[in-house]
Amino acid sequence: MGVLLPIFFGVLLLFTVTPPSMSQLPPTIMVPAPAPAPISPSDLCNGIFLSYDFILGRKIPPNDTADQPYRFESVLTVLNNGREELKEWRVFVGFQHNEILISATDALIVNGTELPALVGNGTIFGGYPVSDLKTAIQTAGDLKQMTAEIELVGTQFMVAPPAVPLPSNISLVNEGWLCPVPTLQSKRELTTCCIRDASIIVNTTITTKFLPRQPGDLTIMYDVIRAYDQNYLTEVTMENHNPLGRLDHWELSFDWMRDEFIQKMQGAYPTVVDATKCIFGPQSLIYTGLDFADVLTCERRPIIIDLPPTKKDDSTLGNIPSCCRNGTILPRIMDPSKSVSVFTMQVAKMPPDFNRSALFPPQNWRIKGTLNPDYSCGPPVRVTPTFYPDPSGMPTNKSSFASWQIVCNITQAKTEIPKCCVSFSAFFNDSIIPCNTCACGCVSETRRTCSAETPSLLIPPDALLLPFENRTALTLAWNALKHKTLPNPMPCGDNCGVSINWHMASDYRGGWTVRITIFNWGEIDFPNWFLAVQMKKPALLGFEKAYSFNASLLSVDGGVNNTIFMEGLPGLDYLVAEADEKDPKKKNIRIPGKQQSVIQFSKKLTPGINVAERDGFPAKVIFNGEECLLPDLLPMASGGRRNGAITVLSFITFYVAAFMVLL
Ligand SMILES: *[C@@H]1O[C@H](CO)[C@@H](O)[C@H](O)[C@H]1NC(C)=O
Ligand SMILES: *[C@@H]1O[C@H](CO)[C@@H](O)[C@H](O)[C@H]1NC(C)=O
Ligand SMILES: *[C@@H]1O[C@H](CO)[C@@H](O)[C@H](O)[C@H]1NC(C)=O
Ligand SMILES: *[C@@H]1O[C@H](CO)[C@@H](O)[C@H](O)[C@H]1NC(C)=O
Ligand SMILES: *[C@@H]1O[C@H](CO)[C@@H](O)[C@H](O)[C@H]1NC(C)=O
Ligand SMILES: *[C@@H]1O[C@H](CO)[C@@H](O)[C@H](O)[C@H]1NC(C)=O
Ligand SMILES: *[C@@H]1O[C@H](CO)[C@@H](O)[C@H](O)[C@H]1NC(C)=O
Ligand SMILES: *[C@@H]1O[C@H](CO)[C@@H](O)[C@H](O)[C@H]1NC(C)=O
Ligand SMILES: *[C@@H]1O[C@H](CO)[C@@H](O)[C@H](O)[C@H]1NC(C)=O
Ligand SMILES: *[C@@H]1O[C@H](CO)[C@@H](O)[C@H](O)[C@H]1NC(C)=O
Ligand SMILES: *[C@@H]1O[C@H](CO)[C@@H](O)[C@H](O)[C@H]1NC(C)=O
Ligand SMILES: *[C@@H]1O[C@H](CO)[C@@H](O)[C@H](O)[C@H]1NC(C)=O
Repeated sequence: MGVLLPIFFGVLLLFTVTPPSMSQLPPTIMVPAPAPAPISPSDLCNGIFLSYDFILGRKIPPNDTADQPYRFESVLTVLNNGREELKEWRVFVGFQHNEILISATDALIVNGTELPALVGNGTIFGGYPVSDLKTAIQTAGDLKQMTAEIELVGTQFMVAPPAVPLPSNISLVNEGWLCPVPTLQSKRELTTCCIRDASIIVNTTITTKFLPRQPGDLTIMYDVIRAYDQNYLTEVTMENHNPLGRLDHWELSFDWMRDEFIQKMQGAYPTVVDATKCIFGPQSLIYTGLDFADVLTCERRPIIIDLPPTKKDDSTLGNIPSCCRNGTILPRIMDPSKSVSVFTMQVAKMPPDFNRSALFPPQNWRIKGTLNPDYSCGPPVRVTPTFYPDPSGMPTNKSSFASWQIVCNITQAKTEIPKCCVSFSAFFNDSIIPCNTCACGCVSETRRTCSAETPSLLIPPDALLLPFENRTALTLAWNALKHKTLPNPMPCGDNCGVSINWHMASDYRGGWTVRITIFNWGEIDFPNWFLAVQMKKPALLGFEKAYSFNASLLSVDGGVNNTIFMEGLPGLDYLVAEADEKDPKKKNIRIPGKQQSVIQFSKKLTPGINVAERDGFPAKVIFNGEECLLPDLLPMASGGRRNGAITVLSFITFYVAAFMVLL
């Protein structure tokens, strides 16, 4: 026994000391041990490695078994293991548990949504302030410059432990990359390795410093043209590239991310001049000598508007080419000189950016106008510098110090309510099909005395000239005459600021004509208005001319000559707002601003066209870039023209009836 004990201990010692691989034990009972040098999945990736790592989840109040919220913390990693620098990385994270993102370090949501944000359907992140990932080759393997680590914190629902809530998908959105379906590394980590799509040849080499400029409906350039340690001067250029895009009274807004403030502007102005935030903020501690009364705005999200034309030559406020048009930006085909708006601003920086080369554009850009399409803007992207003609008059170009581009595209949100509508009428039918009930929305109000669901009632021609509130008597009389039963309550109005009447004026053997009338029921004038009409295919081939509009054919959305573009001839290009009736005898009825023209078509190239029944009516009508709602019905011919006499008779009866009602 005395001999055996040391041996036993020796064996035990042997077992503990010997590495498992050398032990003599059968493999079945071998203790799992860490591999000598674990190969991490990122080492196996020669492209862009993405990982989503769930760090922790914790139940948070309220206690609700039906919709229990949890806090989550996770890390998104983007690592460039490839051969080329990744500019402006963009990663889609397919959240799927009704996540509300509360914070994200060193990143932004790309379309400018501010945090906290609902991201339950997934969202795209981009880096901020650093958005490019260098390669190991460029940096001798400096992981710091090759990696973006985004710490995410947010709330999610119904993810009771031990379940580990991971997104459904992570992938690189940048063009030219292919990401395989992500795989689970452990229960908490989702990874994928994105590689170059060999079918897309991209001209980026290690020498190209910036991304090329991108096309878009409206582009905004942020060009830094003077840089000092504590401030810089930037020129902001907004340019319309869409033939049907337009802005009136534009309002531009963005977020200062680094406590900057605007000292001075030329060519535009903030809606509120207010430096109080600086006086009570960190800025007053840094800029001790500055008189903040001279500062324009310290708002974190200022709203910038254009100056009126009267300030064009004002040496302190204006004096910028392409400024001061009350915020109007037109399509290029109307006037190239009015398709661009420019202003400059002097931006005061804050530490740690007191350095000429520390330049950061503001984020979350948004531009909107009145009765214009909706634009959605991407983040500022650093692009090649802008060149200007040299101010010295030398035949050379001067370069901006740094340039960023913001691309804004028109969004067709389905939920967006229209801002204008169309009514139809035709020579063969004495009724007008008015705009749809609530075409431009109706306020929901319990006291409402009209019905938002009932279709609108046919109206007589002269009711078209009256505001909806004053049409009732004529409408009632007309429908009584037509033996129509009247709904109760009556349908609500269209509530549109602008309505357009499309009147089929004639249809003869060789051609046909349409009379278009534009009504402005709103409070604002529309200088330089435009109207664009798209038809069912064949009709536009026969377009000949318009009489008091300047009309031409336009190719949009990839079609050829598929749109008639109309603007007023000089002198008729101003659509005034609704105004009071000047004639005192006509009681108190407001009259709309009005523009009218006849358009002529021939049938030479479109034999067999069925103008009256459908081909002569538009498929899409766009006023100042805003699509107008079309009625659901077309006017119908009631069995030929035989009842002309009856129509005349019924008109006489109607006017007698309407006259009596009005009295
Ligand atoms: C949470 O609510 C459930 C029922 O809704 C209840 O059974 C449970 O005890 C509650 N838990 C706490 C910690 O209050
Ligand atoms: C960003 O995208 C989300 C989801 O697609 C959308 O709900 C949101 O309105 C967008 N935000 C902006 C500012 O366009
Ligand atoms: C997610 O998408 C669904 C269906 O498209 C929509 O109903 C829901 O509002 C979206 N949620 C968020 C947070 O955008
Ligand atoms: C993941 O998201 C990307 C970008 O939205 C998409 O192209 C890809 O098809 C998605 N993959 C899966 C498996 O859903
Ligand atoms: C790539 O660069 C070459 C030479 O600079 C140029 O000819 C070619 O058009 C470029 N291709 C693309 C897709 O930009
Ligand atoms: C905007 O539209 C252009 C094409 O007109 C497209 O190339 C670009 O990717 C779009 N940009 C965004 C941010 O959607
Ligand atoms: C500019 O706008 C102001 C106020 O909105 C208005 O009074 C003025 O007539 C407008 N000028 C032009 C040329 O549209
Ligand atoms: C200025 O900023 C640049 C980039 O942000 C940095 O490389 C440089 O070292 C800074 N210079 C000073 C004097 O801080
Ligand atoms: C200056 O820039 C303009 C527009 O970008 C260009 O057309 C012109 O050729 C440039 N001139 C010189 C001297 O580079
Ligand atoms: C027209 O409608 C307005 C607003 O409801 C009303 O004030 C006015 O008296 C009406 N005019 C007539 C002639 O009915
Ligand atoms: C489109 O219209 C223009 C003039 O309006 C005409 O010159 C051109 O030939 C037309 N193109 C086609 C393909 O019909
Ligand atoms: C005029 O058109 C409307 C709508 O299509 C129709 O209901 C009505 O009967 C037509 N009137 C006549 C007199 O044909």
